[in-house]
Amino acid sequence: MQSRASSSSSRRFRGWTPKVDSDGVSEREPHGPPGYPALADREAVLDALSRLIADAWRSFEHPRPEEPAIDAEVRERLADPLPEHPLDPAQTLADAARILDESVSPSRPLYLGYVGSTGLEVGVLAEALAATYDVNLAVTARAADLLERQAVEWVAEFIGYPCAEGAFTSGGMISNLTGLLTARERALPGCRAEGFAGRRGAVYCSEESHHSVIRAAEAAGIGSDFVRRLALDARRRLRPTDLEAAIAADQDAGVVPIAVVANGGTTLTGAVDPLAEIAEVCERRGVWLHVDGAYGLPAAATGIAGPLFAGLERADSAILDAHKWLGLQKSCSLILVREAGALEQAFGHEESYIRREAVRNAVERTLEYSRPLRSLKLWLAFRTHGAAAFRAWIERTLGLARRLADGVRADADFELLCEPTLSTVCFRHLPGAVTDLDQHNTELAAAAQEDGRIYLASALVDGRACLRVCFVNFRTREEDVDFALATLRELGERIASA
Ligand SMILES: Cc1ncc(COP(=O)(O)O)c(C=O)c1O
Repeated sequence: MQSRASSSSSRRFRGWTPKVDSDGVSEREPHGPPGYPALADREAVLDALSRLIADAWRSFEHPRPEEPAIDAEVRERLADPLPEHPLDPAQTLADAARILDESVSPSRPLYLGYVGSTGLEVGVLAEALAATYDVNLAVTARAADLLERQAVEWVAEFIGYPCAEGAFTSGGMISNLTGLLTARERALPGCRAEGFAGRRGAVYCSEESHHSVIRAAEAAGIGSDFVRRLALDARRRLRPTDLEAAIAADQDAGVVPIAVVANGGTTLTGAVDPLAEIAEVCERRGVWLHVDGAYGLPAAATGIAGPLFAGLERADSAILDAHKWLGLQKSCSLILVREAGALEQAFGHEESYIRREAVRNAVERTLEYSRPLRSLKLWLAFRTHGAAAFRAWIERTLGLARRLADGVRADADFELLCEPTLSTVCFRHLPGAVTDLDQHNTELAAAAQEDGRIYLASALVDGRACLRVCFVNFRTREEDVDFALATLRELGERIASA
């Protein structure tokens, strides 16, 4: 036992071993009934897992020539009945890795669809560690509480937001809902207990805000009919004058403005609403300003895109998904709030089974109860790579979008549908012989997914079907952009001539 401990400690990082018991490494039998769920040979399974992970990481380093189809053996595995008896853990792990290898992974450098990620390697390590300890942040968890707090502060510092409190959530949807519930309690005190009690409230956003804002308004009892989806300006942004008029009309009609949800990067085109002018309106009218930066807010940390976010510091709340442009694994989103106590006003409560103690339980500031230590991924990533690397990576993806837009603009076979603000580009293929361009571009996106060299999806801009590419993956290179355009031309010409 002693020699095993010292050989494995030589592979450990400097200066730390887990506290086991008063004797150091225990020589007693493991604590648990016979057959309790532990792996028979942990080190062998960990070795097998680390090989599988290393193979996957290697496969992410280069684009694949095609995506593998789901093979017959995998289909067979996935039709197996519930196993009654143990299977070999190493074989089971290998099956799991094979299934994932035959799935769509946003970690691949030519995954350009929706809003992807990078799947930073350090995030995998953090996930494994966090799952090992399985800390529950519903209640106080000692050092993990401080780590979560520090990660919130680091993100706020990174994007330049004067955050007083914040929390990690499962995604942009829940972060937006958390923001609206907080704003609702501020606008209609007591609403969380009494309901609307005959009162009406409204939320304001642009036509192109993410659907999670509508869903959050529905879940918060505000109602989607009370989401005022306002027309866009020429840069696809909310117009502050229209916003003020809509708020004034509601106030005159006895509808209470609950929140303005400004975009810190729309999903469709990456548009950033004019935050400073919107903040003026909100301050004048006494309305909560929430910034949905699930996708775009990390760009506020960069020299290139930072100025677009002027006024962010005046927002009452802002959200950001670290599982998008900060390159981490799902799920890792944050809500940041400017004023201390606002979250507790919306969620604070005491239960007979979760008592208020000297330190408040996190559940008094969050919508979720049981919460994993999502922040560990971000904390470890900032420490491992440094904020400067994130800034550089994000700037490089902004450059990729400019490169693609330039390539499209310079090519008579393609059309740019709108100038990219951040890292999203919407464009169309225009082969001469095709009359129905909507159908052609829809088919082209589907053909690209089928072909497997690049991954993107079609989208609709002003009712016109187009190809939409979003660069958030730190593995994507400049030559990948040129390759993507060449591949789309090849596939597009093939469809057009079929
Ligand atoms: C702007 C915006 N807000 C909210 C969301 C929802 O985020 P999630 O999918 O993490 O719930 C998205 C997702 O793409 C988004 O782009």
